[in-house]
Amino acid sequence: MKIGSLEICGHAALAPMAGVADRAFRELCRSYGAAYTVTEMASAKALTLGDRKSAELLTVTDGERPTGIQIFGSDPAVMAQAVEKVLPFRPEFLDINMGCPAPKVAANAGARLMQDPALCERIVREVVKVSPVPVTVKLRAGWDDAHKNAVEVAKRCEQAGAAAIAVHGRTRQQMYAPPVDRAIIRAVKEAVGVPVIGNGDVTDGPSAAALLEETGCDMVLIGRGALGRPWVFQQVNAWLDHTAPLPEPPVAQRMAVMLKHIEKLCEYKGERIGLREARKHAAWYIRGLRGAAQYRARCGQISTMDDLRQIALELIAENQGE
Ligand SMILES: Cc1cc2nc3c(=O)[nH]c(=O)nc-3n(C[C@H](O)[C@H](O)[C@H](O)COP(=O)(O)O)c2cc1C
Repeated sequence: MKIGSLEICGHAALAPMAGVADRAFRELCRSYGAAYTVTEMASAKALTLGDRKSAELLTVTDGERPTGIQIFGSDPAVMAQAVEKVLPFRPEFLDINMGCPAPKVAANAGARLMQDPALCERIVREVVKVSPVPVTVKLRAGWDDAHKNAVEVAKRCEQAGAAAIAVHGRTRQQMYAPPVDRAIIRAVKEAVGVPVIGNGDVTDGPSAAALLEETGCDMVLIGRGALGRPWVFQQVNAWLDHTAPLPEPPVAQRMAVMLKHIEKLCEYKGERIGLREARKHAAWYIRGLRGAAQYRARCGQISTMDDLRQIALELIAENQGE
């Protein structure tokens, strides 16, 4: 698959996830074969006002490339101005958020944009005009069941110069719960000539294969299915390339990956913030293991890296043979 002139290899990319898919996690997913990564969304307005906190969001390390920087906003001029602010971070492409359902963002940006397809088109046109790298968009199916207009929005974005279109097959109103509407992803794929990346509920090889087959999309995007399971990309690639199916790694390996992840997190964000953020990741890594509930509670209390190492050792002992 190509995003503009950028060659993308693999079957599954890491979805942007604010508060989760930071560079430590993105690097890890890429090391397991994620086709590309996307940063956490950054506010175009905040960027143009010189917000310094956005810098951590936008920093891209070489180990995670190719990477798209995702921006959100509603004013085409401000979105275009933000391009200049993100280019020093050398993204391989830019991604425009047209799917975020969170009330704070969707008040006038994110998924709200889909209520105004002409505005979506103007935003893409203005960003493309000033961007030296390809521009992609990430949509939902629409705002609600009565307004499933992903096809119209996708066509307008393509006309305005979007190089690829990712579609999460749920409406804004559906948030994250009901089954993904594969028909709308298929309809978008049939309506545009640029690559379409299908998104929603992919957690392993078979679910990736089903989404690809039922929608005809070019690649899939994995979000929640990678939480505590960055190796999911390797599993999906193995399944789709018809090499041997890969089972979940043994517990000792899962714990080793978790520790490596959290060490990186602490290196990038400092130990105080890193260990605070580690709690949610640790809870995802230990999900499904024997004693998980009790250990999850302990993960919520960790204050040093050694606390986490101790939890990992105990979990390995308790889950021997798993
Ligand atoms: C914690 C979390 C944060 C997210 N943040 C973003 C974001 O910053 N930008 C975006 O376009 N989508 C965001 N999403 C949506 C995901 O990219 C993806 O579209 C959605 O989770 C559906 O895919 P999945 O079923 O594979 O998780 C977020 C999702 C989650 C769960």
